[in-house]
Amino acid sequence: MNTKQNGNLLTFSSGSKTLYVEWISRGVVRVFHSLSHHSRILDTSSFEPTSFTVKEDPEGMRLTGGLLSLVVGDDLLISVSSSSKTLLEEIRDEEDEKEEEDLSILAKEGHSSLAKEEKGLIHRFALMSNEHFYGLGDHTGPLDLKGYRKDCWNTDDPSAQVDTFHSLYKSFPFFIMRLGEDYLGLYVDNTFKTSFDFGSDDKSFSFSAKEGPDDFYLFYGPTLKELLASFAKAAGRMPLPPRWSLGYGQCRWSYMNEAEVEGVISGYKKASIPLTTLYLDIDYMDGYRVFTVNEERFPHFKTYLSSLHERGYKLITIIDPGVKVDPGYAVYDEGMKHDYFATLGGKTYVNEVWPGQSVYPSFNEKEVRDWWGSLVASLSSNGVDAIWCDMNEPASFKGPLSDNVKFGEEEHKEIHNVYGHYMAMATYEGLQKSSPKRPFVITRACFTGSEKYASGWTGDNQSIYDHLRLSIPQQLSLGLSGFPFVGTDIGGFGGDTTSELLSRWIEVGAFSPLFRNHSALGTKRQEPYLFDEDTVSTYRKWVNFRYRLTPYMYDLFFIHSRNGLPPLRPLFMEFPDDEDLANLNTEFMLGASLLVAPALFPGQRKGLLSLPRGRWINFFDLSESKNGGSYPVDVPLSACPVYVRAGSIIPTYEEGYTNIDKTPDTLCLTLYPGEGVYLHYQDEGDGYGYAKGEYNLYEFTNHDGVLSYRLIHEGYPRYKKILATSLTGSTTLLP
Ligand code: GLC
Repeated sequence: MNTKQNGNLLTFSSGSKTLYVEWISRGVVRVFHSLSHHSRILDTSSFEPTSFTVKEDPEGMRLTGGLLSLVVGDDLLISVSSSSKTLLEEIRDEEDEKEEEDLSILAKEGHSSLAKEEKGLIHRFALMSNEHFYGLGDHTGPLDLKGYRKDCWNTDDPSAQVDTFHSLYKSFPFFIMRLGEDYLGLYVDNTFKTSFDFGSDDKSFSFSAKEGPDDFYLFYGPTLKELLASFAKAAGRMPLPPRWSLGYGQCRWSYMNEAEVEGVISGYKKASIPLTTLYLDIDYMDGYRVFTVNEERFPHFKTYLSSLHERGYKLITIIDPGVKVDPGYAVYDEGMKHDYFATLGGKTYVNEVWPGQSVYPSFNEKEVRDWWGSLVASLSSNGVDAIWCDMNEPASFKGPLSDNVKFGEEEHKEIHNVYGHYMAMATYEGLQKSSPKRPFVITRACFTGSEKYASGWTGDNQSIYDHLRLSIPQQLSLGLSGFPFVGTDIGGFGGDTTSELLSRWIEVGAFSPLFRNHSALGTKRQEPYLFDEDTVSTYRKWVNFRYRLTPYMYDLFFIHSRNGLPPLRPLFMEFPDDEDLANLNTEFMLGASLLVAPALFPGQRKGLLSLPRGRWINFFDLSESKNGGSYPVDVPLSACPVYVRAGSIIPTYEEGYTNIDKTPDTLCLTLYPGEGVYLHYQDEGDGYGYAKGEYNLYEFTNHDGVLSYRLIHEGYPRYKKILATSLTGSTTLLP
């Protein structure tokens, strides 16, 4: 093996093969095969370089620097270790060898192009013992992917999602391997279809792709939080969203006209359930033509939007990428004139989506994104508050797009997985250019890095308990993949919900950043006010609870914008030493302090609460506390156990806070017994004043129920009143 070093880039050659290693930073290393490949997604230019040594070793060349050591063997297989243990040991499997041999025979026989095309890439690693695998976006199955095979290939499949599904709407080719206390992230920098096998043979795990660059990045913690922060630094973080986006929203496929929207508003009013956002699904458009409004259904769209705003509501409209083939329709004509749509064999490519025959904008091209952005601006100038991007896998009713459909100069097989990503980017940038407010975009399909532009929901779930349960690992896995602003269709999208299922779903959904009830055409109506009084009262309780929790949730997005940590966290993120939590799929943490243990089964009235070590206090009853352990708990239909870590400070707004556009004058703080420090962020909730320093950052300290605080940053009018409550009662502090 030949080794060359040029700064932090090492070149290893053996026979006809070459491997490159870029030593990026103390815990970040890139392993790749082509110098001409540059990541579309990751940017590691701001990482601090670290010194490292290169030495010959009995096993090959050993690179050691920062937190990692990597050996490249004569066969160009790698092994990676931390200071305490081997983390990765690359192997070649007999089957993989055979495939290579077969292909080299093909090459010898003159089928070299075939051999090249089919060869693809595979990296296989030995399973040590006790690994856990996390991440990979909102896959089906449990949090821990060990034993499962999954693909990254954005897929719109309307059948009920089950564990054996290999792919869903989103692709996050990033997984985290946990080995004891060590966490190693691996990002496969390939937008073509990638496949992951997390040890289905109980001997090895692997990732592979038929095509695309052979290029991957290692991110080492050592802790999970450090790993996620480092990955987010490369992949991007979500900028602070508008605070109103944390409010509650009602959606349905579809509210057909103003009167129906008004019906929803009055239904919520009568039931005294707070509501911030209304959604318009595809039927607000004229014949599903994107960027049009059906004038019969919404004759005074702009005026109507102003009237919604005057009453404190926000409106989100759906947009789909498929542009109706319809000469005379401006969006189609303009796109055709400028060659903005995908082509096949030199002709505009046509498939079918909601509008019938449709064409697909090439969002991967900047010019097309700018054009799309200007169309988005037309919606926002009418007063639309945020955009919901759907069907952007891209969906296609007349069979899948063939690999060689071209988006500009690039082929579908390479663009498919990032199609939704680029659509979200175009939409976000369009909103950003057209309004001084913070853009808010929701997307169904996306890729690693889309968090810079969009939030997302888990797509078309069903009104079944399985999907209520699945919503927990799905949302946690998205967070572990770097995507923080997530939610599920509360009540379930497909099928008819029941009052009990809806009650249980609101108890889980109240903790999701994207807080939306949505259901499909033809299913039973799912607005909570249409249900019996017990259901209405449970629903009201949890929506109110969520509005009170707004400052805590908003703080979590402030934290995310700084360090990339997700608001929804698996318990093992906060309690990494407890092996029993490694695949807990029924509880989750909101931030570092709140543990949520919902009831997830029909008829369930008793639950098992698992509390990690330490002391925990009932969120709803400061005087009730428990030590770590497992406890039977009562879960009447209206209840969801929420426990708070001792010493925490939880900020809330006063009972009745529903106007989420407004930063209230009073902040309430509950001081749970114990010692702790909490950072609280306050700003106007929208716009970019914060970038000019117009915000406050408070550091609150809990001395076993006694509060002290200081302002770390002051740039916004302070609260008029801070109300601190502890076991000993309430005290008011004037800042
Ligand atoms: C897709 C979306 C769903 C939407 C429907 C109609 O199925 O996932 O949320 O309601 O299309 O637009």
